Amino acid sequence: APPQPPSSSSKPMRAALTGIDAAKQLAAWTAVDEHVLPEHKLIGIGSGSTVPFVVERILAQGKELNKDRVFLPTGFQSKELIVNAGLTLGDVDQYPNLDVTIDGADEVDRRLNCIKGGGACQLREKVLAEAAETFIIVADFRKNSETLGTTWKQGVPIEVTPFAYARLLQNLHRMGSKAAALRMAKAKAGPVVTDNGNFVIDAPFSSSRYEEPEQILREIKMLTGVVEVGLFCNMAKAAYFGNEDGSITIK
Ligand code: 5RP
Repeated sequence: APPQPPSSSSKPMRAALTGIDAAKQLAAWTAVDEHVLPEHKLIGIGSGSTVPFVVERILAQGKELNKDRVFLPTGFQSKELIVNAGLTLGDVDQYPNLDVTIDGADEVDRRLNCIKGGGACQLREKVLAEAAETFIIVADFRKNSETLGTTWKQGVPIEVTPFAYARLLQNLHRMGSKAAALRMAKAKAGPVVTDNGNFVIDAPFSSSRYEEPEQILREIKMLTGVVEVGLFCNMAKAAYFGNEDGSITIK
């Protein structure tokens, strides 16, 4: 049965969520119930619109458990989430090994390879995913696919050092990503700048190339000026997808 809202909350009841938000909440709550265990003290919190439901469910585990825990953010948004929830904020400098990290994804294939970085946080997300004993993905059903590039058409998000972006675009075009482009801020006010002061290039590939995401990852990593690639291969232990009908898919 899907997890129920926390009963001990003193806050006023909120209307039940519907649609995509309900799917995100179900994925996040189920993953927390199964993977954030009482003995876990160091917890990585990812980025995006599904992750607030992760924090919501962790809070429902109670003050007693959470007072001995430290939470590490993957970016400005999750730092705010942690602080506003009254949880203890930590840094990977102090805690380079975590118990568990839970994060969203833009697309997840049948082998649990992911495209991440829709929110331009892929560098810190990958550091905290690698740092964790267990890395778990939470998402709604739209992110669940057989092969990458099926639903996420925007391409692989690549964080790059600003000095190298023009050459990197050339190199990516030569690699076959003809539509690779610098990610622009809304209203095209200028390039998106990451929490690390870098730019992001979105590089789409053909469906045949997405069959081997490790190969794409290796090739892009070799290019000078690339900081990190939003392809997470062989990293996630499990992915939780909330479905439209209120069921959950775990893979
Ligand atoms: C940010 C990410 C996010 O985790 C990803 O974009 C998923 O976000 P959402 O939960 O809003 O669908 O990789 O860089």
